[in-house]
Formats: sequence, C-alpha cells, structure tokens
Amino acid sequence: MFDHAAFQDHEQVVFAHDRASGLRAIVALHSTRLGPAFGGIRMRAYDCVDAALGDVLRLSAAMTLKAAITDVPLGGGKAVILGDPKHDKSEALVLAMARVIEDLGGRYRGAEDVGTDLRDLATMRRVTRHVLELGTLPLRPAPSTAHGVFVAIRAAIRHRLGREDAGDLRVSIQGLGKVGAELARMLAHTGARLAITDLDPARVAEIAAETGAEAVTPDRILARKTDVLAPCALGAVLDARTVESIDAGIVCGAANNQLADPACGRRLHARGILYVPDFVANAGGVIDATHDGPDYDPERALADVGRIETIVERLLEAAAAENLPPEEVALRMARARLAAAPREHTV
Ligand code: NAI
Repeated sequence: MFDHAAFQDHEQVVFAHDRASGLRAIVALHSTRLGPAFGGIRMRAYDCVDAALGDVLRLSAAMTLKAAITDVPLGGGKAVILGDPKHDKSEALVLAMARVIEDLGGRYRGAEDVGTDLRDLATMRRVTRHVLELGTLPLRPAPSTAHGVFVAIRAAIRHRLGREDAGDLRVSIQGLGKVGAELARMLAHTGARLAITDLDPARVAEIAAETGAEAVTPDRILARKTDVLAPCALGAVLDARTVESIDAGIVCGAANNQLADPACGRRLHARGILYVPDFVANAGGVIDATHDGPDYDPERALADVGRIETIVERLLEAAAAENLPPEEVALRMARARLAAAPREHTV
C-alpha cells in the first residue's frame, strides 16, 4: 500500500472485515492536521480490492484539499464498502461499518455518498456519533454542492468574460444526478442555454422538460462547442484524449478528480481553457458539513457555501498573474494552509 500510486502520504488506512455481516471496507484518513478526517462513505461493487483502494485514497486526499482551500476545521478522509448497495447492503452490514467508524474514536467523520443514504447514517448513529446528523433534509448536501459549483461558474465567467452571470451563455452539463440536476435548474433560472446529458435517457428527458435544456447523447457532450462545460458525472473525465477535443472557454463542475493527471491541467491551460479546480468548485458539501447538528439552518449553510465565489475569484486572479494553471496555484494554497497548521489535530 505504501507504494500505491495514490498513496499520497496518508496518515492511516484501515481495512475492516466483519464475517457475520459480510462487511469488507476500507477507511482512508489522509490528514487530520486541520481537524477530524471528513468524507463520505461510498458503497460500490468494485472490480477488485485494488480499484477500491485507489478510489478511497484519491477521494480522501481530495477531501483534505477541499477543507484546506475553504479554510474549514476538517481533515480529509473517505470510506468505501466493497459491495453492491442494491444486493449486499443489510442493517447488520451498516451497523458493522458504524462500529469500524466508532473504533476510530472521532478521527474520521462520515457522511453519505454514492451507494449510501440518510437512512444508513441514521442506522449508524445508533452505534456512533461520528457520522453526520443531517437534520431532516432528504437531499443534503447535494444542493450545497450545486450552489458552490454555481457560484464558482459565476466567478469564472466574471474573470474570463467580464459578465455578472451565465445570462444567455451556453452551458453543457455532463451527469444529471443529485448535483448536476440541481445545477441545471439554477442555471436555467439565470437564462443560460443548456445542453445536458446522462447515461439514463429518462433522467435527461425529465430534466430537459423541466429546464428547457437541449438533450445531448453522452458521447457528444465533451467536444460540444460551449462557453462553460460542467462535468458532474465521474472522475478522470479530462484525459489525454478528451482535453484535445474540448471546445469550451471554461470547465467547472462537481465531479471529483476530473483531471486524469496534472499534465491534463497544463494542457487545458496551454489551450486557453480556464479550468476551475474541482476540489474548489465542489467544496460546498464540506462547508455544509461544518454546519451539521440539530440546529442546522440551510439558509446559513448556503450563505457560507457562497464563500466559494470569492475563493475562486482570488484563485483565478493569482493564477492569471503568474500565468499558471489554476490547479497548480490552488494546490499550492491548500498545501500552504496545511503546512501552517500548528500540529496534528487531536480529537
Ligand atoms: P450521482 O450518482 O447522483 O449522479 C451522477 C450521474 O452521472 C448519474 O445520473 C449517472 O447516470 C451520470 N453519469 C455517469 N457516467 C456518465 C457519463 N459517462 N455520461 C453522462 N452521465 C454519466 O452523483 P452526484 O451526487 O450528483 O455527484 C456528481 C459528481 O460530483 C460525482 O463525481 C461526485 O463524486 C461529485 N461530488 C458530489 C458531491 C455531493 O454533494 N453529492 C460533493 C462533491 C463532489
């Protein structure tokens, strides 16, 4: 594991197995330097353990960056449960996962993610208080994440085009899940001309009817001529091949780890495409998590998420001043905050 390509100096990686419930899980604590390692609990039928390990390591390291760049007192972590949420999930398995989290004594704090939901978190809270409480809002934190991406796009448009909002600009959205659909609604409200896609044609039809967007097949979205491209599906979408075909002025979306490797960010920059680093644009959920508790106030959380607009603005100005890809400058800023933290957080 120490030689894994995605290891990135993780503090702790826990492999857990519970024979009775069939739980097989990995919890990755990338950094607790700024606070408890925070991140979602993903359940997915991975092809192999190595695929699960790579996923959890990459996602956990990204969480550290999100918290550092938005200046919140959280570290970076992530958990994955190996299995198909539709067939393999049981109450016993969810409770076994909660015991793993409880045993970490608060060094890791869990939230829902792909394959887990608020009911699972409620079950876990019978065993551990180290998962989000989440109040009663069924879709949290996706609206906060979507709001963060929306204000990040607004900052990028202002920086690049000197305009106040998406107005009648063209915006292409890849992925219409919890975040992408909400982003489409927000952008449609400002008058943006939307092109949308998803692997699920019924979902595309539903959101197109709701927002007036043009429906596009998944293979056509990335190379389509547009002002803003918002990847809101899966990671590694910007690879050596796709970065050459992208015909957008700005790339800014919710998906985690969009760049297949740092060279792709440099290539986008060389092609004159403004890429807003994913870990800045999609940090709304992390900011939202700092408001968790019985007094959760969605208005206050959303207002706090709005800070992402200023963070993106400053980042893009700094990157332009040095003629560097924004990703490189954002990494430098996040690492500087980590380095300045007095010592490792104790829970
Ligand atoms: P989701 O699972 O609800 O939606 C993802 C959607 O993308 C699905 O509808 C799926 O059919 C679609 N999709 C997958 N591959 C596709 C492809 N090749 N072309 C077109 N569509 C495709 O996920 P959610 O919550 O909306 O998140 C979207 C992205 O944002 C994910 O990468 C997630 O990791 C990231 N993210 C989400 C946060 C949240 O608060 N939900 C927070 C930070 C990041």
